[in-house]
Amino acid sequence: MPLQGKKILLVIAGGIAAYKSLDLIRRLRERGAKVRVIMTRAAQEFITPLAVGAVTGERPFTELFDLAAEFDIGHIRLAREPDLIAVAPATADFMAKLVHGRGDDLASTVLLATDRRILLAPAMNPAMWANPATRRNVERLQADGVTFAGPDAGEMAESGERGVGRMSEPLAIVAAIEKNLFDLPARDALAGKKIVVTSGPTREPIDPVRYISNHSSGKQGHALARMAAQAGAEVVLVSGPVSLPDPSGVKTIHVETAAQMLHATEGALPADAAIFAAAVADWRVANEASQKMKKAAGKLPTLSFAENPDILATISRHSNLRPRLVIGFAAETENLIENARAKLLKKGCDWIVANDVSTGTSTFGGTSNEVHIVTQASVDSWPMQTKESVAAGLIKKIAASLGGAR
Ligand code: PMT
Repeated sequence: MPLQGKKILLVIAGGIAAYKSLDLIRRLRERGAKVRVIMTRAAQEFITPLAVGAVTGERPFTELFDLAAEFDIGHIRLAREPDLIAVAPATADFMAKLVHGRGDDLASTVLLATDRRILLAPAMNPAMWANPATRRNVERLQADGVTFAGPDAGEMAESGERGVGRMSEPLAIVAAIEKNLFDLPARDALAGKKIVVTSGPTREPIDPVRYISNHSSGKQGHALARMAAQAGAEVVLVSGPVSLPDPSGVKTIHVETAAQMLHATEGALPADAAIFAAAVADWRVANEASQKMKKAAGKLPTLSFAENPDILATISRHSNLRPRLVIGFAAETENLIENARAKLLKKGCDWIVANDVSTGTSTFGGTSNEVHIVTQASVDSWPMQTKESVAAGLIKKIAASLGGAR
């Protein structure tokens, strides 16, 4: 029984998908989990506490100001006792409440008071899921370390409606819960360690309004920083310009150019490990114009370039500030492993994470990545997975490598 002894608190919010939560409870229990349930007032419009009580074998919690329940368990114990809190279905309104830290009913108060992992299984109309407010809320919650299962695409409960917004099937939510409980690094895996991460692109100015850059979104680097913080590390993230929110619990330093990124990275040392996931521009414009360059008929501007400092190579060769573990990334369009190993040797890092960025891949900007961990002696190839999963795997590997105290 894979979930034997695990305590799951399931919050059921008010959506038509709430009927699937009964099956979710059954699936969790048959895997050995102990399931407690909180139902919001709106959830009780869709399924009854009686039905939930019948499948859990105990009364669901519904009220914040319920004297009997408060003396029995208490909302703070409800928040602290589970191994994981799952919200299924998570409605748009419930997610908005979480973002703002509202605590006006039992479910939101418990989520505000918890230090446990939170997994949301959203369910809503496709227009609500696509709404800019919901998009912002999802990004904020991800930056706060909340994970998501779904939503899926398909037919909605409302007749004639299709799109992304269906709650994932119970077994997919169970799989996401198991992944959360067993695949993520332990919460103290990097306790007492300091990790520096670079992320995102750099921008090298041509003139006050134009620049040279690349397609890095910062998703991979930010996921690493977030995961390291969730594993208990003190984390400094040096980020180029990205549109992601700063990860919670991480000191984020915003920079634009490679020179600024080097300066901020050096300033963040000493550290136990440094991970260089940023896509740093190799060159900057040597003849940067101080005023906006004017368009003149028949005349094309000529740019000349100067080499940027190599941040990874500089830190790898630092005589006294080199972190114990230095990890580079290699973004390649051909001869992936061969070129990555050449970079490892040239730049002097301990591991290099090779990923394919050739046309047709969505390594730059996408949500998934297929990586190969290259050392001088070995290549460890991981399957295509989300950038979150890549980050979880790398942070576990880093924790194992760093071992004991600093
Ligand atoms: O940001 P995402 O959209 O999520 O995409 C993730 C990613 C593709 C950017 C990431 O996975 C990745 O591969 N990052 C490294 C990109 C890169 O610039 O690779 P490179 O092969 O050019 O550089 C090799 C290493 O040297 C990298 O660790 C890079 O950070 C570092 N470098 C490069 C140039 C330079 N001047 N200074 C450096 O430190």
